[in-house]
Amino acid sequence: MKKILITGSNGLLGQKIVYNLLERENYKIKIIASARGENRLKEKNGYEFVSLDITDKESVNRVFDVYKPNVVVNTAAMTNVDQCESEREACWELNVNAVKYLAKASETIGAHLIQLSTDFVFDGENGPYSEGDEPNPLHYYAESKLASERVLQEYDIQWSIARTIIIYGIVDDMSRSNLVLWAKSSIENKQTINVVNDQYRSPTLAEDLAEGCIMIAEKEAQGIFHLSGPETHCILDLVYMVADHYNLDKTFIKPITSASLNQAAKRPPKTGFVIDKAKSILGFNPVGFREGIKILEQQINDKAK
Ligand SMILES: NC(=O)c1ccc[n+]([C@@H]2O[C@H](COP(=O)([O-])OP(=O)(O)OC[C@H]3O[C@@H](n4cnc5c(N)ncnc54)[C@H](OP(=O)(O)O)[C@@H]3O)[C@@H](O)[C@H]2O)c1
Repeated sequence: MKKILITGSNGLLGQKIVYNLLERENYKIKIIASARGENRLKEKNGYEFVSLDITDKESVNRVFDVYKPNVVVNTAAMTNVDQCESEREACWELNVNAVKYLAKASETIGAHLIQLSTDFVFDGENGPYSEGDEPNPLHYYAESKLASERVLQEYDIQWSIARTIIIYGIVDDMSRSNLVLWAKSSIENKQTINVVNDQYRSPTLAEDLAEGCIMIAEKEAQGIFHLSGPETHCILDLVYMVADHYNLDKTFIKPITSASLNQAAKRPPKTGFVIDKAKSILGFNPVGFREGIKILEQQINDKAK
């Protein structure tokens, strides 16, 4: 039986991967979910949970030694771009050094390591990007994620890099916001929201990304994969689509330029991915943004029941 270890299983993607695997009937796989601290998934059955802080090298080695996973999906990271800019040491420890611990432990037991990465490794001057395009990170978070990609290639392991873009979805306790929920709740509460009109992205439904990561694990596909939604839009247009879906008053949406935000970490203007490789090799088939909003709405309604 194949054993798959998920790190960061309390996070958005981590939760979706665990639930996706649990939903597969007669699927011969042992799921080991791991997260910093306690397990926050509502469902506690059908998998093993082990508390694991991936910045603790000894704990990483112990967990690998006990469970001997065949595949490891590292979803854990410091994902807040501005926090990475201001807390550089902690960012590097989690986003780069911890990946070294995972890679070394994977090498020792012969595990395949799948590392999550981001569109932000690119500078956004020539999007949408293919896997072979040259990265050029603009800020510390992006530098750390690119460094994590390079870590994998220093070890004698089977590795894959799954790059993604703006994940939207809900977690069990609805504690995490996302582009759709933020726009919807702000406008419903009659708050004006400032939305950039000069950044382009391919938003990704969390379930689709989870499915893509599992496809990589199943096929033991190696190398870099771009796993995002199929459409690239300006963030302002994404927010307009949310407003259209919920029939919200668009006068609360104020278009602004990125320059007016004065952010310490400059965001790339136009990313977006070409996902042909993931489609042909993995069979990856993500939904478009309008369809994704509908799926999210259904999930929120189901939770409210
Ligand atoms: N979200 C996006 O839009 C986006 C876009 C591009 C790429 N990515 C990449 O995709 C991956 C998954 O993102 P996500 O949105 O699922 O992130 P997330 O919801 O922030 O989840 C990350 C998880 O990592 C956990 N974590 C933090 N420090 C840890 C440690 N020392 N040991 C173990 N776990 C730790 C966090 O735990 P707590 O819950 O306890 O804090 C959190 O649950 C990340 O690698 C991210 O860089 C995300």
